[in-house]
Amino acid sequence: MADLNVGLSRRQLLAVAAAGAAGSVLPRPVWAAPRRIKVGLMLPYSGTYAALGHNITDGFRLRLAEFGDRLGGAEVEFVRADDESSPPKAKDNAAKLIIKDKVDVLVGTVHSGVAEAMVQVAREEGILTIVPNAGSNRITRELCAPNVFRTSFSNWQANHPCGDVMLKDGHRDVVLISWNYAAGKEMLGGFKESFTAGGGRVVKEFMPDFPKDEFQAYLTEIAALKPDAVYAFFSGGGALKFIKDYAAAGLQGKIPLYGPGFLTDGVLVGAGAAAEGIKTTLHYAHALDNPLNVKFRSAFQEATGRKADVFAVQGYDSASLLAQGLAAVGGDIGAKKGLIEAMRSAEIDSPRGRFRLSRSHNPIQDVYLRQVRNGEEVVIGIAGKAVEDPATGCKA
Ligand code: PHB
Repeated sequence: MADLNVGLSRRQLLAVAAAGAAGSVLPRPVWAAPRRIKVGLMLPYSGTYAALGHNITDGFRLRLAEFGDRLGGAEVEFVRADDESSPPKAKDNAAKLIIKDKVDVLVGTVHSGVAEAMVQVAREEGILTIVPNAGSNRITRELCAPNVFRTSFSNWQANHPCGDVMLKDGHRDVVLISWNYAAGKEMLGGFKESFTAGGGRVVKEFMPDFPKDEFQAYLTEIAALKPDAVYAFFSGGGALKFIKDYAAAGLQGKIPLYGPGFLTDGVLVGAGAAAEGIKTTLHYAHALDNPLNVKFRSAFQEATGRKADVFAVQGYDSASLLAQGLAAVGGDIGAKKGLIEAMRSAEIDSPRGRFRLSRSHNPIQDVYLRQVRNGEEVVIGIAGKAVEDPATGCKA
């Protein structure tokens, strides 16, 4: 139901109350129209990351529905832009949403290269921005800004803990493989940092162009190299193809496969038996046994007919963060100072577990060790407790 008090000042409310108490005829109330905010969703709705964009959107909408379709009392309108995970189109897409569509808040995106360009526009325009996935380290390091928040992870954060995991599992010589773009390089970089510091060796690194998904030649070479294990970052459609090709090449069960959890999240149903045994590290796991996660997973499935994954969680938490900010300023998106202050100090009750943001506006969070067993992502340990990105170079 509409909250008719929204928009009335305290003085107006007192005046109405006083007139009533004096028995006089009430003055015609100033029923201000409820506040409205325009949310620009800049996400991939096509291409290899399309499923990620849809789950982020639906996670956000699910949380919004829990608030009666309002944030801090304000009605919400969406404008969507399919960014196609295309860095050359990123600045135009961001500018269109901000300047032409006049959105109040930007929520985007998935691909690190697109996100870096988008954040540069957001910084210039001073628009409130929430990054619901892209892990580009730079966004909460050199490019950090008071108006830019991230509810997901940094690429370093999701991968660094896995170096020790693989060493403890007894693997010394590994092959790395990922797409050749910002996220791929940073994910492998975060992993290598801890793995090589602990004595691990990188035998070979393969970096196909994004979003290429012809893996046969690399898999043939991996079979010949016979490393102790393989560490891979792919996601969405590309991850599904890689997991299936890895099994079809006869490597499953022979050369253990590891990666950040993006490798398996959202693709388990499609991958079936080919995903069995893969070990990953991530700030979320389907099987997390907290009441909010259980409720969230069944509500998401009910609303969409699909299983929730880390991307849906990040969309859900982006709406929670915005709701906390707007609640503190009565839904007034123009009250930037109070809004940003409330978002900075927010504590988010998330399906991943409660978390806060660091001074560079990136989650401080536990990183779980997961393994696919009988088609389910099972939590087999905690790879890192309260992991915080170093935020090197963040001056804001
Ligand atoms: C990224 O480009 O930052 C990215 C893309 C897909 C993921 C994770 C990170 O699953």
